[in-house]
Amino acid sequence: MSHAKVAVITGSTGGIGGAIADQLAENGWTLVLVNRNSAKAEAQKADINRVHPHTKIDLIQADLMDLDQIKRAAQEILTIHPLIDALYNNSGVLTSQRVMSAQGHESNYAVNTLAPYVMLESLRPALKRDGDAPKTMVINTTSAAHNSAKSIDVDALSEPDIIGGLTGAYATTKLALTTMGRALAEDLAKDGIMVRSVCPGAVITPMTKTSDGMPGILKMLVPLLFNKPDKQAGKMIYAALPESFGARTGIYITNGKEKTAPKLANDPRVQAALIKKLSADAMP
Ligand SMILES: NC(=O)c1ccc[n+]([C@@H]2O[C@H](COP(=O)([O-])OP(=O)(O)OC[C@H]3O[C@@H](n4cnc5c(N)ncnc54)[C@H](OP(=O)(O)O)[C@@H]3O)[C@@H](O)[C@H]2O)c1
Repeated sequence: MSHAKVAVITGSTGGIGGAIADQLAENGWTLVLVNRNSAKAEAQKADINRVHPHTKIDLIQADLMDLDQIKRAAQEILTIHPLIDALYNNSGVLTSQRVMSAQGHESNYAVNTLAPYVMLESLRPALKRDGDAPKTMVINTTSAAHNSAKSIDVDALSEPDIIGGLTGAYATTKLALTTMGRALAEDLAKDGIMVRSVCPGAVITPMTKTSDGMPGILKMLVPLLFNKPDKQAGKMIYAALPESFGARTGIYITNGKEKTAPKLANDPRVQAALIKKLSADAMP
């Protein structure tokens, strides 16, 4: 009998992560939900199991603003699941407030760029596959907001002069995330791991409804113009199937369609500087 596929989802207590968890449970996946708020995660697990009593769900507590907690969470996951089929790096922060992480990184960078890198590298042994085994997938939840970042000062990601919300640090750290996927794709492929940077499109979630980083006028339009999480989660799950999009890795997908990534994400010098910074920041 084949075993259920295992998906790790960060930020499953949020709008898009929650909808992804629901739909993967519906499709028979085993879920590993990584969240900072244990009470919310327990309630989510109970809700999913009410509808899908046989879904196996492991809850892992971690605040992604703390590298030690990310690494401890990854070790817990590796102990329970030596084989993982998909990692959804979904957690995200959109703020215009300056908040620093336990290791001294600005929060948009800490959660949107550094945490996905550390989670991916820490879980790599369980994502790795040999030879002809089916490929595994890392989905980095980026944002089309990365198009507003017209430049990227890699060394300033940890401590930007201006935070600036949607078109500021959020856009830059999502551009860095998209760049990271392109930079790592070739090396990950050697281990049978695919990576895609996927923007869910515009979705009605706590982030878009309440975040201080969202411009007020746009917040007012969210209920009218943005999509429901379940519709967009289906597109995220489709993007996470190795066979979709011509079985290609390192690509950027937005709202269910492959698009050209921003030019900076393809620049080998930016890629090299970013990976150097991420690997240094991952080992404080
Ligand atoms: N909504 C959109 O239109 C849109 C568009 C483009 C990209 N995105 C991206 O989609 C992803 C999901 O966002 P969403 O819209 O679903 O927002 P959301 O409902 O606010 O969900 C964000 C999730 O991230 C978690 N999170 C934030 N900081 C964390 C931390 N320090 N440690 C652990 N978890 C943390 C939140 O946990 P709590 O529940 O504890 O707060 C929540 O579960 C994000 O990466 C976002 O940037 C969203």
